Amino acid sequence: MKVRKAVIVAAGLGTRMLPASKVVPKEILPVVDKPALQMVVEEAAASGIEEIILLLGPGKELLLEHFQPAPLLERHLEQRRKLDLLEIARAPNRLARFTVAWQSEPLGLGHAVLQARAAVGDEPFAVILPDDIFDSPTPCLRQLLEHAEATAAPTVALMRVARVDLSKYGIVAVRPAAGRLWHLTGMVEKPAPEDAPSDLAIMGRYILTPEIFTLLEQVKPGAGGEIQLTDALLALAQRRTLYGLEIEGIRYDLGDRLGFLTAQIGFGLKRPDLAPQLRQWLAQMPPA
Ligand code: UTP
Repeated sequence: MKVRKAVIVAAGLGTRMLPASKVVPKEILPVVDKPALQMVVEEAAASGIEEIILLLGPGKELLLEHFQPAPLLERHLEQRRKLDLLEIARAPNRLARFTVAWQSEPLGLGHAVLQARAAVGDEPFAVILPDDIFDSPTPCLRQLLEHAEATAAPTVALMRVARVDLSKYGIVAVRPAAGRLWHLTGMVEKPAPEDAPSDLAIMGRYILTPEIFTLLEQVKPGAGGEIQLTDALLALAQRRTLYGLEIEGIRYDLGDRLGFLTAQIGFGLKRPDLAPQLRQWLAQMPPA
């Protein structure tokens, strides 16, 4: 199967990043100097995605603006012949085609995905949570797509997590398929460590087929009135083969303060223009 579209869900309120996220959407906060949202759109484009469906909520309109021309800024840079900066300012506009879908209230990830139904249509699609950023030799979404395009089966991204972190994630029950690939047989949302069926957690990348929409319509709201994507995935796993692929790379959770901080350092250390001084500064820090 060929996956052309990716839904980036960005209608949440980002409460874990307050006060930064009070008026500035957390998705536009940068990793070093690049908004998280641009990083995931670049990942999607590098993975072969042609169309981005940006799922927004009230007050999040400015996320789309980042991918549109900025005439005043561009003229200013052009007149001063700052062509390298002009290139940086224009680059987001060329990454993909954008469609916007709306979620009027953040009623959960499952509800968010359901709001993209008309924009997705009747074809397989990817879902990206822009909180999750990967530093990997092959883009995370490409790793998933290589597998899903060959099997035509829905596939979710997995990573092993420490026991203390199990209760932050959707944790899967699995049967081995091959190497880093697993058959998913069950999943539990945010389990206590003793109830977790494995140490494999679902990360923010999914390849789904349109039948997920019908299943999402049937999901009953859970805790906090939220409609969970996990519940629909569970129903899907009972009907057809659902895979999980262990992703190769480092993952940062930008929705969380520590993850946000470590991402700045991790990606900063990869930047030739910043790494030597950053390394020096880190080495000079007094021990706690
Ligand atoms: P999170 O739960 O991590 O994001 O959802 P949040 O709700 O914005 O943040 P906190 O927990 O209050 O700090 C993961 C992704 O799913 C989107 C969010 O925007 C985020 O990118 N999401 C979540 C929606 O688009 N709609 C929802 O109803 C829930």
